[in-house]
Amino acid sequence: MLTLDEAGLNLADVAAEARRRLEPAHWDFFAGGAGGERTVRANEAAYTRRWVVPRVLRGTGERDLRICLLGEPVSMPVLVAPTAFHRLAHPDGEVATARAAAEAGTVMVVSMAATRGVEEIAAAGGRLWFQLYPQPDLEFTAAVVRRAEAAGCRALVVTVDSPVFGRRERDLRHGFVDLPPGLACENMRDTDGRVRTIEMDAGLGWERIAWLRGITSLPILLKGVLHPADARLAVAHGVDGLLVSNHGGRQLDGALATLDALPGIVAAVGGRLPVLVDGGVRRGTDVLVALALGATAVLVGRPVLWGLAVGGAAGVRHVLDLLRADLDRALALAGAARPADLGPDLVAGPDLVA
Ligand code: FNR
Repeated sequence: MLTLDEAGLNLADVAAEARRRLEPAHWDFFAGGAGGERTVRANEAAYTRRWVVPRVLRGTGERDLRICLLGEPVSMPVLVAPTAFHRLAHPDGEVATARAAAEAGTVMVVSMAATRGVEEIAAAGGRLWFQLYPQPDLEFTAAVVRRAEAAGCRALVVTVDSPVFGRRERDLRHGFVDLPPGLACENMRDTDGRVRTIEMDAGLGWERIAWLRGITSLPILLKGVLHPADARLAVAHGVDGLLVSNHGGRQLDGALATLDALPGIVAAVGGRLPVLVDGGVRRGTDVLVALALGATAVLVGRPVLWGLAVGGAAGVRHVLDLLRADLDRALALAGAARPADLGPDLVAGPDLVA
């Protein structure tokens, strides 16, 4: 059990406790972003510029937070975003995160930069999707996809916002360039057991998405789409879902806040694909606003790492439980019984008319 101090009443409390526990270089690796971190700040700030316009006397009764994603039920519209290096936060690493996500009945997206092997993570139970940085070596990329399939992952989340590495100044100041000895990106192991370095592929284009489509029958989601024209191209290329993301502000500093990008993507997709969003989601009302503006679900990145640092699986569970309870209360107070009841008329803010 977590003590009340550890657990915290909200995600900012959990972050403060995580900061006390983590080595400064590791806290900064989790918290930081690219360049001047404008986009890191903008993601959270975008939510503070939206206001909920609640309905009353709707007699909503018990709320039902369940959604259906890629044909499968999920207990709430909050998923675990793929983040690297969970063993920096807790010795159990991604295994603990997976256990918590399974208990919460939601999806965990396993990062290609996970510090536990996908098989071990899958053994913790629950539903996993696998995040892929397509590698210039196609044969190796295909081997990683086969490994994720064999471990039981139910979808591929292809990160497309990273043709090169973002420049994260906090990491440079700490000289944090690699994992400490004993930790490795376990899903980058070659057949000979050597761990390959993750490469970003500046040559990545739509033909690679078509290639991936040809080597796997798993649903493919693209992560890192902000431009409506790319959303239309994604539909044309037969992908199965989009994740509106700027990588938590860790790649292109100055990229649009994801909540600001969301309505344009939703309009471009026109209901043909599920549209997910991540970046800066910290409260139940944030989830409500994203769903009202057309997201099917949101993902959380840093809050999960904070929970993991504070209490392993119990800490992650606490973060997910806080978001679930907060969303449930927000729905009730806004006069909605379920995510499907939410629409843009419930949100006011810049450029949005209630
Ligand atoms: C990330 N993110 C990320 N994304 C990805 O596709 N592959 C990865 O390996 C990682 N690694 C990673 C590490 C850390 C420390 C962070 C904070 C983020 C991005 C992540 O999936 C997600 O887009 C953001 O974290 C969402 O923003 P919030 O919830 O952290 O504000």
